[in-house]
Amino acid sequence: MQMIAPRTEYLPFARPDIDQREIAAVTEVLTSGWLTTGTKTLEFERQFAEYVGAKHAIAVNSATAAMHLALEAIGLKAGDEVITSTFTFAATAEVVRYFDAKPVLVDIDPRTLNLDPQLIEMAVSPRTRAIIPVHVGGLPCDLDAIQAIADRHGLYVIEDAAHALPTYYKGRLIGSISDFTTYSFYATKTLAVGEGGMITTDNDQWADRCRVMRLHGISKDAWKRYTGEGSWYYEIIAPGFKYNLTDIAAAMGLVQLEKLEHMNNRRQDIAHQYDVAFGAHPAFETPILSVDSTHPYHLYILRLNLDKLRIDRSTFIEYLRKANIGVSVHWMPLHMHPYYRETYGYSAEDYPVAYKQYHRVISLPIYSAMSDEDIIDVIAAVTQIADNYRV
Ligand SMILES: Cc1ncc(COP(=O)(O)O)c(C=O)c1O
Repeated sequence: MQMIAPRTEYLPFARPDIDQREIAAVTEVLTSGWLTTGTKTLEFERQFAEYVGAKHAIAVNSATAAMHLALEAIGLKAGDEVITSTFTFAATAEVVRYFDAKPVLVDIDPRTLNLDPQLIEMAVSPRTRAIIPVHVGGLPCDLDAIQAIADRHGLYVIEDAAHALPTYYKGRLIGSISDFTTYSFYATKTLAVGEGGMITTDNDQWADRCRVMRLHGISKDAWKRYTGEGSWYYEIIAPGFKYNLTDIAAAMGLVQLEKLEHMNNRRQDIAHQYDVAFGAHPAFETPILSVDSTHPYHLYILRLNLDKLRIDRSTFIEYLRKANIGVSVHWMPLHMHPYYRETYGYSAEDYPVAYKQYHRVISLPIYSAMSDEDIIDVIAAVTQIADNYRV
């Protein structure tokens, strides 16, 4: 057995691509006298809407806030149901629980790890109000099939596009397709500002409602009340939330938007190197691509063929850590977590596809700040472990 020589330095699983441009943009805001939502946020919204091809972009402080506001805008009520995938992050379903509504979980397609449209149709009930498709890793869901189900049953579609920037689906950028699209600009995302998010929609009324509810339910341009143009007078029209984005974050966001294509190209390059290295190896299954869409590779999810290995996924990860390579798992399916198990009585095998895939997935480092040596180290460590522990 060949030993893996560990890197001298730990390679983090994710790391934002920040240079002097973000530092200068943030410094400008810090010295401007205006730190929170203001002209930078408006400019970020304008450029983001233009970029994805949506009529409105509403900046918020997380994707969680974005999904919460979208559900609020459609008037979700206690007892309603929203269909989403069990193979997602906590946020996608918790926002439904905020309303005392029920997240109805469905299983996934084993090829894509995205929710399976056929199972969505079977999960529709008279109480269903919306579908939240999650583009896992950034690979787009079958949005045409999902929209057709939504149209048949009068449902709203709110995309969880936390991973899907930039992603083309059949020639259109995600963000310009469904009733709402929601994004995350969390520290590890393909556009990173620390904490941040965006809602896009073409609907004027929903956009207005999201704008009002993101800042305390104050009727109009609440953020302006301390500016020369603004007024001390305001009216509260609903009990809103504190979900606005700061100009500090928006200034970073504007630079990151400019760098998006460059960062995306680098991830494409890394994904290609991983595909070449792991694609023909019997111990691995690499992510699929679809002919009519693109993959932004927010995540590169490598799947282990466990029948070809003498170790399980957790041990594989342990050895990668020993080799100083940071990796992650996306995700333990929601139905396996104590809250969902106890609230809805799920058992692990209720969603057999997600359950099985969960035991095979490892998310490898993939970000534009990786050096060529970093990529070589990941490939060497992953291949070496698989070769050492092949059956
Ligand atoms: C699929 C998915 N949806 C939503 C979120 C929540 O994003 P945020 O942290 O911006 O609220 C995440 C965060 O990792 C995610 O992976």
